[in-house]
Amino acid sequence: MAHTSSTVEHTSHGDLAATARAHSNIALAKYWGKRDAALNIPAVGSISITLDALHTDTTVTFRHGLAKDELRLNGSQQDDDHPAMRRVRTVLDLVRERAGTNVHAIVVSDNNFPTGAGLASSASGFAALAVAASAAAGLEVSPRELSILARRGSASASRSLFGGVVELHTGIAADGSDAFAEPLMERAEWPLSVVVAITDAGQKAVSSTEGMSATSATSPFYRAWVDSSETILAQMRDAILAHDLEKVGELSEHSCLTLHSLMLTTRPALIYWNGATMSAIHAVRDLRSSGIPVYFTIDAGPQVKALCRPEDAAAVAVALSTVPGVHETRTSALGPAAGLVATR
Ligand code: DP6
Repeated sequence: MAHTSSTVEHTSHGDLAATARAHSNIALAKYWGKRDAALNIPAVGSISITLDALHTDTTVTFRHGLAKDELRLNGSQQDDDHPAMRRVRTVLDLVRERAGTNVHAIVVSDNNFPTGAGLASSASGFAALAVAASAAAGLEVSPRELSILARRGSASASRSLFGGVVELHTGIAADGSDAFAEPLMERAEWPLSVVVAITDAGQKAVSSTEGMSATSATSPFYRAWVDSSETILAQMRDAILAHDLEKVGELSEHSCLTLHSLMLTTRPALIYWNGATMSAIHAVRDLRSSGIPVYFTIDAGPQVKALCRPEDAAAVAVALSTVPGVHETRTSALGPAAGLVATR
């Protein structure tokens, strides 16, 4: 993690500012449900890959005299009661508490991809916030601590602190001190590609947080999901360390479809897919039948992410872009860890 004084800006007004970039991630073994909602501790562990092509840049400026924290997301000022604002304040409060300050901050955050549409903008967003806010406040924080801090904003964000393949532990400690993410494999060790098929760039109707709370309260399958998670995680870990794409892909599709079964059996039902989502699933399965090792995964939104070898990514992108209802595809390699960026 880059952390040098040159990346923390001291302006003439006495402001302290830092800018961080974090990349989005997608889980191959999914997280859904919390063992502690207040501390945002996931009920199950998860394994993700960080995506190079999707990122958030966030600048945090602590400014004396500011009456409250402010958030400017993709160019528009957010209301104080915006759900993201509450989480931003949670992360900033933790940073202030640690730094022994009560100065408020201006947070300016920009994504290079659609926000809130199942492309994990909260993952890259809160990871970038944790890094930038800690640096601006002058804190020396380990990647593990940053991961725990980012988790308070969004659990998937704890994984975006790291590059390559990443595991987030659910842990057992009541205070969440063992619910952190850590790298499982560096990206250079196993080059992989992800083709994201965007079927609807609009905001999702039910946020992940609301959705998983409803699932744990109402789905008859929720207990089975939690109980089976350790087995899936162990198998996924082994398959990744063995570079076994077929096994990783099979497990990834299983985890995804199990998650969406939970969503479908939530009351009221959570149906994140549209018709093009289903068509894209079939396109991936057809490609596989034709001999290309490619596997799908889908989060709390209608986009389909296809995992494949870099040499097959162009063919996968062409096939997915011709699926009716797919507006756009984005191809990504595995991405790097979050870090500070020099502002001038
Ligand atoms: C389906 O991390 O967005 O993408 O912790 O409540 O902010 P909160 O939820 P979030 O949920 C991600 C759910 C998922 C699966 C995953 O990324 O593991």
